[in-house]
Amino acid sequence: MNDSLFFRRMSKRSYQDKPIEPDVLNKLYEIIRWSPSCANKQPWRFIFISDPEQHAKAVSALAKGNEWAAQAPVIVVVCAREEDDYSREDNDIKYYQFDCGLATMSLLLGATELGLMAHPMAGWSAPDMQKALSIPDEYDVICVASLGYAGSIDLLDERTRTKDESERTRKEITEIINIDRFVK
Ligand SMILES: Cc1cc2nc3c(=O)[nH]c(=O)nc-3n(C[C@H](O)[C@H](O)[C@H](O)COP(=O)(O)O)c2cc1C
Repeated sequence: MNDSLFFRRMSKRSYQDKPIEPDVLNKLYEIIRWSPSCANKQPWRFIFISDPEQHAKAVSALAKGNEWAAQAPVIVVVCAREEDDYSREDNDIKYYQFDCGLATMSLLLGATELGLMAHPMAGWSAPDMQKALSIPDEYDVICVASLGYAGSIDLLDERTRTKDESERTRKEITEIINIDRFVK
């Protein structure tokens, strides 16, 4: 089980200086395309950025701690607009954002399946990203991810290497899974 896609996926920070082949990217687009969404609204827009000028603009909107992502050959920006939400009167869930989360997981697992590494990030400025990429105001930037072939940890600066060397941890199953009823 531990060699399955779910356990091989991880968010590391070093990338090889190697572009992603167009046929590999096409497979990833198809994987993302078949993500589930509420009422099949498919509200997501994924911008795959490898053009050097656009890439530099996207990188400029990343937070300081995410400078390592500049080495990734592709930056993926996930956006969606509320107009494409499937809203229900009996709950307040923002399904257009929730659906982007599901499709982003397709990106992460699809990348793993194709031998790539995708690393999701919250460390970026929404207004800066919006402006840098001329994303229309009605679209929210929901997630940004780096994408490429994983590289050697030796390529990283010391601070970033320490992050990549730190142990990956999780809560215990008993803390996150309840059987039959909510356990306080
Ligand atoms: C929405 C989201 C935002 C994240 N933001 C950052 C980030 O800005 N910088 C970073 O280095 N890692 C970021 N991560 C990666 C998480 O730190 C990582 O997923 C978590 O530590 C679990 O590690 P794993 O992905 O290797 O299982 C983010 C992950 C998610 C899902």
